Amino acid sequence: MSLKTLKVYEKRAGCSKVKFGWNPQSVQWYLESEQNTSFYRKTVEELHPFIHDCKTLLDIGCGIGSFAVEFAKKGYSVTAIDKSSLAVESLMEKARLMNLSNLKVINKSFEEFIFDNNYDIVFISYMMGLVNDNNIIDFLKIANKRLVIVLPFSKIKNDFSINELYTELGVDLKNLEQFNYASMLNILNKRNYKYIIKKVSAEFGQPFDNIDEAVNFIYHYFKLPVERSDDVREWLNRKTTYKNGKLFLPNLRESMMIII
Ligand SMILES: C[S@@+](CC[C@H](N)C(=O)[O-])C[C@H]1O[C@@H](n2cnc3c(N)ncnc32)[C@H](O)[C@@H]1O
Repeated sequence: MSLKTLKVYEKRAGCSKVKFGWNPQSVQWYLESEQNTSFYRKTVEELHPFIHDCKTLLDIGCGIGSFAVEFAKKGYSVTAIDKSSLAVESLMEKARLMNLSNLKVINKSFEEFIFDNNYDIVFISYMMGLVNDNNIIDFLKIANKRLVIVLPFSKIKNDFSINELYTELGVDLKNLEQFNYASMLNILNKRNYKYIIKKVSAEFGQPFDNIDEAVNFIYHYFKLPVERSDDVREWLNRKTTYKNGKLFLPNLRESMMIII
């Protein structure tokens, strides 16, 4: 390890606060959502005009790799890293089945990853705890041409119209506060970085086999009182529709792409 790499590594250690855990069920939910919605494809389509002069891309916190696959399909030479072995295994299997030889998948956290070379694009999506004032300098160091950060548009999370359920149950919407693109722009403005922003709205709903699965899903992703599960079920009965023969909870996801 060179001294320069070692210094970046030491500085990075312990500065991630991303709270996101995978289990076999959540991997399955993401896979089904990815196959039945437009979020990943549409985001990459809309980003493409800003990055078509780039060849190599590093996807940090790739998860099950829905973005990494879309970028690889477009011909970029992609390296995808994630600290979750479960998510990475799912992506490796997908890359193998799709014969994507331009996609390299690595099971490492950003803090552990040793950067042998730079990438034309460093891409980071929905990693709210990782894109902070300190890390932004490291991301820029390894990005030859662009750093692309995708973040939620709203300060109060409203995936799956969840605000409505919180309000019906009398749960404080403050619990849904999140780091959004505006917080990121504050960091960039403070440092006088130049950037372009582009809003993307795309369907990112969730298919289910039945209403019990939908209830489990809501309790997996949102902290709601267990004793209100009948009200949650009743709300889901009102909100879900049918799509491709499955129960479907719609979700118009609004994101902001920040291109630096
Ligand atoms: C909300 S998911 C986003 C996945 C993907 N980027 C997307 O937009 O669909 C956050 C991901 O970051 C990963 N993660 C969290 N902290 C990380 C770190 N320090 N280094 C690498 N991956 C990390 C998690 O395992 C998870 O897969």
